Amino acid sequence: MKLLIANWKLNPPTAKGALDLAMSAAKAAGARSAKRKVILCPPFVYISEISRALGKKSKVGLGSQDIFWEDRGPFTGQISGPMLKSLGAKYAIIGHSEQRALGESDGQISAKIKAALHSGITPILCVGYGTESHMAEEDVLMHIKGQVEEDLQGADPSKIIVAYEPVWAIGTGKPATPEHAERVAMFMRIKFKIKKALYGGSANASNAGAFLGKEIDGLLVGGASLDKNDFIKMIS
Ligand code: PGA
Repeated sequence: MKLLIANWKLNPPTAKGALDLAMSAAKAAGARSAKRKVILCPPFVYISEISRALGKKSKVGLGSQDIFWEDRGPFTGQISGPMLKSLGAKYAIIGHSEQRALGESDGQISAKIKAALHSGITPILCVGYGTESHMAEEDVLMHIKGQVEEDLQGADPSKIIVAYEPVWAIGTGKPATPEHAERVAMFMRIKFKIKKALYGGSANASNAGAFLGKEIDGLLVGGASLDKNDFIKMIS
């Protein structure tokens, strides 16, 4: 089953709103018409409550939007793998371009990937930062290769989900073409033997079918995952 990963970013503003979004996605994901495996990645502060509301038997997976590389200690403001695991999170988005833009380095991303794996959390690595819409596809592939190599640093690729998110397509309403996204996904799968190769960047209910009809293992969805109706349509 193909993956639909919801990246809520810094939304919604209240716990009530978060719970409401989560339960609506869970209902659609549990329906017989559901065609996708759903993973929700809310802000850290909502994970506990959503986890409890979903319950242990839920078909919906839960993830975080980041993870710290140490398990414990004097690291103010950080959240560790064991903490996330204890709340029921099984996935962590790592290396999102919005984090990279705030200064996150490939070295830090690589440490976070290792920490996630060591805690039994599946990393959802985002690559594509630094790409431009006019770049030749060959150059994009070389860029992605460099990022994946630096971020994995020996981590087992068969345990990692990688999402190609061209930075120019994120939140702009201008997605990459499904054909381009498919070629990048295939490149990542063949070259690195990664577990699953996803696409992200302005994916929504009207274009999801075109992407998921290709050799792409799923979508990382930002804006459209905050719209209940749009996201339900994507699930079914
Ligand atoms: P978008 O965001 O779907 O709003 O473009 C995707 C992402 O940043 O993961």
